[in-house]
Amino acid sequence: MTDDEQAEYIETGRRLFARPVTFMLSVVGFAQLPDGGMPEVCFAGRSNVGKSSLINALTNQKGLARASNTPGRTRELNYFNADDRIYLVDLPGYGYARASKTDIARWTKLTRQFLAGRAPLRRVFLLIDSRHGIKDSDKEIMAMLDETAVTYQIILTKTDKLKKGELGKVMDRSKKAIARRPAAHPDIIATSSVKKDGLDVLKAEIATLALPDHRV
Ligand code: GTP
Ligand code: MG
Repeated sequence: MTDDEQAEYIETGRRLFARPVTFMLSVVGFAQLPDGGMPEVCFAGRSNVGKSSLINALTNQKGLARASNTPGRTRELNYFNADDRIYLVDLPGYGYARASKTDIARWTKLTRQFLAGRAPLRRVFLLIDSRHGIKDSDKEIMAMLDETAVTYQIILTKTDKLKKGELGKVMDRSKKAIARRPAAHPDIIATSSVKKDGLDVLKAEIATLALPDHRV
């Protein structure tokens, strides 16, 4: 990209998120999913990785998605409408060891069904805690998305918690981990919802995915 193209790309994202983003719907069963009239992106990842916080940071609304210290806070698929152009979907987290078997079973069914078979889904943002890196439970999801050919992009979270110089290493390790994965987007975005780092690029990606003629 030239500098002008980069500036235009970032500006497109800024403009989308300057418009209202509103809560639309909480879904607990596949049958309740909205008609696929608009493109969708979703935020997936281990419990407590910062999915809901990232949606709040992107939209600059603290209480839009419910974020919490308690892992397993988000238990439904929550739909947010960004300017009638694209839905942002906050998913329940996986890998929460203390969740009940029933909760885990429900997560597995609904979320996997969604990730693997949701036609309007243009990209999965797969959030990885930058302090912990990619875990086995993340690899399971990546393998499933590779198999179903749903594009996913790694978003590193909580980079404000890293010491100087650590981000480069996590980036390198993550790049290596996705190098041979067919459905992985090659670019990794490093973010901090606290410091608001990396949000401009993520907004720009979402705005690009919202374009009617977007090709995945
Ligand atoms: P579940 O819904 O349980 O799957 O969790 P989640 O992935 O939605 O995580 P959530 O956004 O609720 O955040 C979990 C915890 O991490 C909260 O205590 C947040 O304040 C904290 N957190 C989220 N993002 C950041 C970040 O960028 N930096 C720091 N330092 N803390 C963060
Ligand atoms: Mg959440």
